[in-house]
Amino acid sequence: MNNIILCGFMGCGKTSVGRRFARQAKREYIDLDLQLEEETGLTVAELFERFGVARFRDLEHEAIRGLARRIGCVVATGGGALTFARNIAAIDRRDTVVFLDAPFEVCYGRIKNSDRPLVRSNTPEALRQLFDTRRAAYLAAASTAVDAALPHDEVVSALLDVSRLTAR
Ligand code: S3P
Repeated sequence: MNNIILCGFMGCGKTSVGRRFARQAKREYIDLDLQLEEETGLTVAELFERFGVARFRDLEHEAIRGLARRIGCVVATGGGALTFARNIAAIDRRDTVVFLDAPFEVCYGRIKNSDRPLVRSNTPEALRQLFDTRRAAYLAAASTAVDAALPHDEVVSALLDVSRLTAR
């Protein structure tokens, strides 16, 4: 069965909605950031700090390549993952990439007090610019988008529709 891969900006709900969606769809849930944290014993913030962003992106890429061995899962990617061509290329064509599309203000409101490295190291204006650039990348990478500004149960129900419609 196809994996359903969630992409979108930090704070769009990939993790929180993804977990609930997986439970309701009876699919295994994979959080790529969490997987990296478990594999390395370091938090994402520590990985950025100790090894730098380039190494983090390489680890993230390896994690995405590893999805080729998984089937039928719901996968929450990190916000940068599907903005890189090599990661998009590594995704199985049978999998379904869904963009969780929420406005910058919604995402920013959810992340502004977090310890995410990109939030700590960027001004709100710089993050908005990153958001604008990345939105185009998410739209290009995904085969469908869901309005992620809606209440979580509505986002989950839209994702359940996607999973029914794309099951293969
Ligand atoms: C990142 C998003 C984070 C995490 C890392 C880099 C990004 O994941 O992968 O901090 O480049 O947007 P979330 O989108 O789950 O916060």
